[in-house]
Amino acid sequence: MQRTPDVNVSRMFNRIARTYDLLNHILSAGIDRRWRRKAIRMLGIEKGNLVLDCSAGTGDMSLCAFEANPHVKLVLVDPAEAMLINADSKASNIPPRQFHLVRGVAEGLPFADASFDCFMVAFGIRNFDDLDYGLSELARILKPGGRGVILEFTPDRSRLIDRIFRWYMNTILIKVGNLISRDDEAYNYLARTITNFLPSDSLLKVFASIGLTCRKNIALSFGIAHLFVLEK
Ligand SMILES: C[S@@+](CC[C@H](N)C(=O)[O-])C[C@H]1O[C@@H](n2cnc3c(N)ncnc32)[C@H](O)[C@@H]1O
Repeated sequence: MQRTPDVNVSRMFNRIARTYDLLNHILSAGIDRRWRRKAIRMLGIEKGNLVLDCSAGTGDMSLCAFEANPHVKLVLVDPAEAMLINADSKASNIPPRQFHLVRGVAEGLPFADASFDCFMVAFGIRNFDDLDYGLSELARILKPGGRGVILEFTPDRSRLIDRIFRWYMNTILIKVGNLISRDDEAYNYLARTITNFLPSDSLLKVFASIGLTCRKNIALSFGIAHLFVLEK
């Protein structure tokens, strides 16, 4: 069953699309680029692979995948049209036959079973309206033996790092984010979802329940984020 995008969340991402990249790189001090490159390396894309970039946003994962493998075919899915428009404008060096944009949500992907070689989701799963359903859709569209990577903030940090991280989220990120994006609540939402998401143990149980084997579970930058490398 295909679902229509959750209007509130996608509206919010539409509102902040203009400043999203700038804030992403400032607020993460550029570390997100390193995390993305590592995720793409671990995904091990092969020549001609069809790769789904779910919750693609402004397309940074896809651009990184193309840089690593110029023969990749990319399908970007996201409910926020303004984010996808930005992705499109950043992808002028990718041949159009290798780059497709689809407006939609993870919960009800408009693709056939076992049609993709790989999927990737960077900082997207915590926005899913229905996490189990969204993840099971990713498993469904993956070919047997296909691979997936998920990058996400999880609360598996040491107490000290967690305290510093929460302080940073609840003061700097919210203030700077709302100020630059000129939005009163977008970065409150982001800070809330980032600090309150599930621990990796719970995510591992969901992956196993939908037929995805977790080959690697890597803590990034003192456990601030996690990279899950999955296989069907
Ligand atoms: C924090 S951004 C991450 C964007 C990009 N992957 C990146 O790494 O910069 C989260 C994205 O998830 C998208 N999103 C929200 N709800 C979604 C859903 N139910 N299914 C798929 N994507 C969703 C948002 O529109 C937004 O672009």
